[in-house]
Amino acid sequence: MIKWGIVGAGNIAHSFSKDLALVIGGELTAVASRDLDKARSFANEYGAPNAFGSYEELFTSNTVDVIYIATPHTTHAELSIAAMKAGKNVLCEKPVGVNKGEVEAMIKVAKENNVFFMEALWTRFNPTIKKVKELVDNGTIGDIGYLHADFAFYALDRDENGRLLNPALAGGSLLDIGIYPIFLSYLMLGRPKDIKATANFYKTGVEVQISMIFNYEKAQAILYSGLNSNSEMKAEIAGSKGSIFVHPRWHETSGYTLEINGDSSVVEVGKVGKGYTYEIEEVHKCLNAGKTESDLWSHQNSRDLIEIMDTVRSKTGIVFPFE
Ligand SMILES: NC(=O)c1ccc[n+]([C@@H]2O[C@H](COP(=O)([O-])OP(=O)(O)OC[C@H]3O[C@@H](n4cnc5c(N)ncnc54)[C@H](OP(=O)(O)O)[C@@H]3O)[C@@H](O)[C@H]2O)c1
Repeated sequence: MIKWGIVGAGNIAHSFSKDLALVIGGELTAVASRDLDKARSFANEYGAPNAFGSYEELFTSNTVDVIYIATPHTTHAELSIAAMKAGKNVLCEKPVGVNKGEVEAMIKVAKENNVFFMEALWTRFNPTIKKVKELVDNGTIGDIGYLHADFAFYALDRDENGRLLNPALAGGSLLDIGIYPIFLSYLMLGRPKDIKATANFYKTGVEVQISMIFNYEKAQAILYSGLNSNSEMKAEIAGSKGSIFVHPRWHETSGYTLEINGDSSVVEVGKVGKGYTYEIEEVHKCLNAGKTESDLWSHQNSRDLIEIMDTVRSKTGIVFPFE
């Protein structure tokens, strides 16, 4: 049984814990919060036997095999590094670091300490996305010419000091949700040859919407993320022989539609829980096999993703005050 510990008892920690309960072979054994009462009540809710009032106490305890970092973007690098230096395996929320420098530092510490380290890019492990990747790779829709993916929701009514609208917490749409359309383009088409992007900014200084064109040798991807409206979030991958539509919301999808020669087939793949179950299973698989990184979402994949995001940032003037 793989013993999990969670750092940061916020939103995603709750969703993750509910899905962890659905996975065979793992259990939540510890929770750490900056507030001991909060840690205790979270631990009670999910039946975890250990609660800590500081993150450091969890890192140095012997209560877990792997630690899930579920705190704001700006804290990922420091906390993952502290956990790995204490010899713990780490699954860290996306974006794993806020820039290339942070991600490189994290990978270095993972290697030095010979621990497992992975970015929690859960969509990579979603069974529909895996199936779609297989269809693209085996040529079912021919050569891809066009890909479209977006991710948007209205968030301008949120707390301006919260992590989405606060530049000091690396707020804005790009790192939080723009990462998903970028990921899909990278997964299906690889690293783009050229990137064009344009962004609008909010009064707090964070980027509030961003449109991106990724140019490839024989394809273009049109990608978007935003915090000032909703979007349908249906992804489209179109090739010389057919198209795939990933059903909304595509990043947590449970099915797709395949269109070939005017014939359309709707495929419901399904999913267990909200879908975090699959990244959890991947971690279990890697740990049980003694691996220090996943083949499906490797250190190099995280490196490539942050490099692309750094490029998008440099083209649109997204700078965080702490950099
Ligand atoms: N994979 C997904 O689907 C998904 C979905 C949502 C979010 N995320 C990622 O998960 C991370 C956390 O997002 P969230 O929505 O769960 O955030 P959240 O609700 O604000 O929770 C973050 C938790 O981090 C801890 N924390 C540590 N330092 C903090 C600081 N300076 N300010 C605020 N909180 C701090 C707090 O826990 P304590 O008070 O208990 O210490 C807080 O409850 C983000 O990096 C985000 O990208 C992923």
